[in-house]
Amino acid sequence: MPLALPPPPNFITPPVKRPTHHRCKIPGFHCTPGPAMHINPERSSRPDYALLERQVESVLEGERNLMTNAAQFSALVYDTLADLNWAGFYFTVPARKGEGQDLLVGPFQGKPACARIPFGRGVCGTVAVERKTIVVPDVHAFPGHIACDSASNSEIVLPLIKDGEVLGVFDIDSPVLDRFSEEDREGLERMLAAFMDGTDFS
Ligand code: SME
Repeated sequence: MPLALPPPPNFITPPVKRPTHHRCKIPGFHCTPGPAMHINPERSSRPDYALLERQVESVLEGERNLMTNAAQFSALVYDTLADLNWAGFYFTVPARKGEGQDLLVGPFQGKPACARIPFGRGVCGTVAVERKTIVVPDVHAFPGHIACDSASNSEIVLPLIKDGEVLGVFDIDSPVLDRFSEEDREGLERMLAAFMDGTDFS
């Protein structure tokens, strides 16, 4: 019978010293001792949007870089709202061929998505042209919907408007039909307004 040898000394990991108390500066965040920090571990389908608006301000505090803040904002939305399969930005760019404008994918959470959407196409392109939020209870019933992920069943797309210009859209997809309520629309518009206030676009 082989002898059960003790592991060699280099297998022994010294106990990690973790702080017993870790203060979070972000309101409502649940912090644990050690490196891991969890935001609202139970994702909510009826979130506290007033708290989320303050969390946006807090997460973006001290940084106005567009890509950084867009990445942080997408992560906050994706990590706090229940039943999402995609959340992220498309930014306005000149169209590759001819005239007009396209939406080019920016920071997001979820599966890889369609990179470029012409203004006027799909839900995102329609929002860019109409300049107002569109809630789609059933994406299969929306003419021209662009399916980046077959798991998506409902969607909300909000425009990013500054000084009368459409700078892009923020898109959220859900596998749940009719996922986004009027309360979600209002709350997300407030969160996005806080993002726009805290971010430089040029
Ligand atoms: N469904 C969108 C395309 C973008 S993805 O959902 C990430 C649309 O119809 O514009």
